[in-house]
Amino acid sequence: MGLISDTNVGPLHAERIAEACRQQGLDVVLQTFPAGESSKTRRQWSELTDGLLDFGLGRDGCVVAVGGGVTTDLGGFVAATYLRGVPVVQVPTSYLAMIDASVGGKTGVDVDAGKNLVGAFHAPVAVVADTGLLRTLPGPERGDGLVEAVKHGAILDEGHLSAVERSLGGLLSAQPNVAAEVISASVRLKAKVVAADEREGGYRQILNFGHTIGHAVEAASGYRLSHGSAVALGMLAESEIGERLGVTAPGTKERLRGVLSGLVGHGPTPSGAAFREAEALEAGSPAAGAALLDDAVAFLVRDKKARGGRPRYVLLEELGRVAPGDGWTHDVPDDVAHEALRNALESR
Ligand SMILES: NC(=O)c1ccc[n+]([C@@H]2O[C@H](COP(=O)([O-])OP(=O)(O)OC[C@H]3O[C@@H](n4cnc5c(N)ncnc54)[C@H](O)[C@@H]3O)[C@@H](O)[C@H]2O)c1
Ligand SMILES: [Zn+2]
Repeated sequence: MGLISDTNVGPLHAERIAEACRQQGLDVVLQTFPAGESSKTRRQWSELTDGLLDFGLGRDGCVVAVGGGVTTDLGGFVAATYLRGVPVVQVPTSYLAMIDASVGGKTGVDVDAGKNLVGAFHAPVAVVADTGLLRTLPGPERGDGLVEAVKHGAILDEGHLSAVERSLGGLLSAQPNVAAEVISASVRLKAKVVAADEREGGYRQILNFGHTIGHAVEAASGYRLSHGSAVALGMLAESEIGERLGVTAPGTKERLRGVLSGLVGHGPTPSGAAFREAEALEAGSPAAGAALLDDAVAFLVRDKKARGGRPRYVLLEELGRVAPGDGWTHDVPDDVAHEALRNALESR
């Protein structure tokens, strides 16, 4: 068995798992890589793969990835390619990995041209999410990962959104039972979408709500804004777009803002702090906010999911329901998109 973890989660949880497996008579190698997105590379994939070859893991072996989404993506990709594919068991330890990254079978690494551009679909044989492990997850990571649960509610189930709202305190303090309830509901929602469209031909695109603008802002900030904060901004901007075009029910953006500000309040928030933080990051340059907006617009145009050179947007009809559009996405006039992006950044 090849256990893969990062330098944070390894000592906290994976070493104990390795020891428990050894006590069951299993032959186990534990490899840890430096924590962080910057490890999600072909180079790290190659080192981990060589480690498994040195260990002599055979076709009857399996990979167990213990960690956040970086670990489940990277470990999953190692398993997908090792000896042309061995089974992977995902043991997600962050909210993001439990709610999102370990569900759906996408694995891969980042390359210079962009995030997640090299990878494989490799569904796990099992996902073991122990919400007791969230206790050690740093506070800002908690709210960040839960943004994806808000997204699942926004696109599929207004009741789930209310459940997240009601459970906010228990979720942020990582109470295992509260977390288990919200995570399992969220996973069921995502799994239903994935089952309907495993290879992202159409319906699965609804999972990109908030992500067209979110990815642009994240990239424009040089990835200094967290994914959760960027997607929170993205959901607000894309709700505003929908409301302006008469596609989305009025009031949707405000309701989402209420939930999201409770989640990403730890770090950059969607209520203007992201904008200010970007300015601060640029050493107080007054032009920095405008530069972030310009850069985000430039990234929108280069969106890898663009169709015919135009970015596509997932828009809600109302909370809990996506507007069908053309293949579940919409073309949006540039001025409307850019104005909504500016408003989300400045939180007007
Ligand atoms: N495959 C997919 O469908 C999919 C979907 C969404 C996101 N992702 C990927 O997921 C990644 C982000 O995931 P993430 O936010 O979990 O990042 P991450 O794996 O970097 O984890 C965030 C931080 O929390 C630490 N950590 C994780 N669990 C911990 C615990 N229980 N105790 C203490 N520390 C802990 C990690 O060491 C890391 O420092 C991105 O690379 C993204 O592309 C993949
Ligand atoms: Zn996301």
